Amino acid sequence: MSTAQKTYTVVVAGMGKRGTHHADAVSRNLRFKLVGLCDIDPARLESARQKFGVDTVNTDAAQLLAQTQPDVFIFCTLPQIRLPFIQMGVETGVKLIAFEKPFAMSTNEGLEMHQLLSKAGVKTVVSHQHRYGEHYQKVKEIIASGAIGRVHTVYGHATGWMMHMMTHMVDYVNWYNDYAEVEWVVGQAAGKEKFADVHSSPDYICALLQYANGVRGVIECGAGAPDVPEVEAWWRKCRIGAQGSQGFAEVLTGGGWRAVTKDGVMSGPGNMDYDHDMPPYIQDIASWLDDPARVHPCNGETAFKGFQVMMAACRSVVQRGKVSLPLGPGKPELEALKRVLPD
Ligand SMILES: NC(=O)c1ccc[n+]([C@@H]2O[C@H](COP(=O)([O-])OP(=O)(O)OC[C@H]3O[C@@H](n4cnc5c(N)ncnc54)[C@H](O)[C@@H]3O)[C@@H](O)[C@H]2O)c1
Repeated sequence: MSTAQKTYTVVVAGMGKRGTHHADAVSRNLRFKLVGLCDIDPARLESARQKFGVDTVNTDAAQLLAQTQPDVFIFCTLPQIRLPFIQMGVETGVKLIAFEKPFAMSTNEGLEMHQLLSKAGVKTVVSHQHRYGEHYQKVKEIIASGAIGRVHTVYGHATGWMMHMMTHMVDYVNWYNDYAEVEWVVGQAAGKEKFADVHSSPDYICALLQYANGVRGVIECGAGAPDVPEVEAWWRKCRIGAQGSQGFAEVLTGGGWRAVTKDGVMSGPGNMDYDHDMPPYIQDIASWLDDPARVHPCNGETAFKGFQVMMAACRSVVQRGKVSLPLGPGKPELEALKRVLPD
């Protein structure tokens, strides 16, 4: 069998909302075979077993990996579980680990994960899959065509809070700015209510980014980020785009795209849709495994850089001033932030 025809075996752990999306897209793609499912909740696991017709299931991810020895390990657990699952995947010898945003809970955890993965040469993919939306792609196309002139500012804001939404925003603005390196970040935050959430976060956070190519980035997340009145669904109230010397182009997560360029005013449709975005996201995993040159657009290296921007904003609130990237080890950011923010 040639490499191009290889079928890659897959285990998915965490059969909640996102695990089900992943298992569904994997099971519909002929390049993959689902060989195992895991969830600590036996009822949820049984219903996933029936839905996907997979024989091997286990409530213990390490046991399941040992049993099945898959090529690809996908885990879609809540943010508190990252490092132990990366360790398990690396120890099993999988080729690729795909997992959910946010990358980690702290820079220290992220650095440890990154070191383990780099040493083992395991590829990673992180679910910033909104970019597959036709409206996200259209905005990229307009910016890349030069129609808005020289880009000087990229921006992304979401009413969803930091650990849910911020790395989505950073990932897409980095993409719109051709992945120029971020040199430093200045951040500010407010409000402590959302620290109690499983996506533990300040209620509001903002960050200014200085890119090496001179572009300014502006990111805001949470209660107090600008509303997107064109969009009704609260989670989709995100606006991400770029301003240039001759216009702007932006995507509204739940409301299409629009642009003003030297050619006039234009707009078009698009709405974030898992059914639309997951199949190409999963297909790009097969393409990358087939050919190392076809790096996945949601690869872990760029996700880790985006994650560091979020953590740098947290550090800036605590330390004040500019925080230079890349980050080294430090105080766990969420705890440090919680201590300095006023009630
Ligand atoms: N990329 C996106 O568009 C997007 C959208 C929503 C959520 N997310 C992210 O996806 C992740 C999961 O969110 P969700 O909404 O699917 O959560 P969820 O609560 O629906 O599912 C999580 C599942 O993990 C299981 N689980 C917990 N510990 C486990 C363990 N040790 N082993 C195996 N299973 C375990 C839980 O029982 C649950 O079924 C989060 O990090 C979230 O931020 C991403």
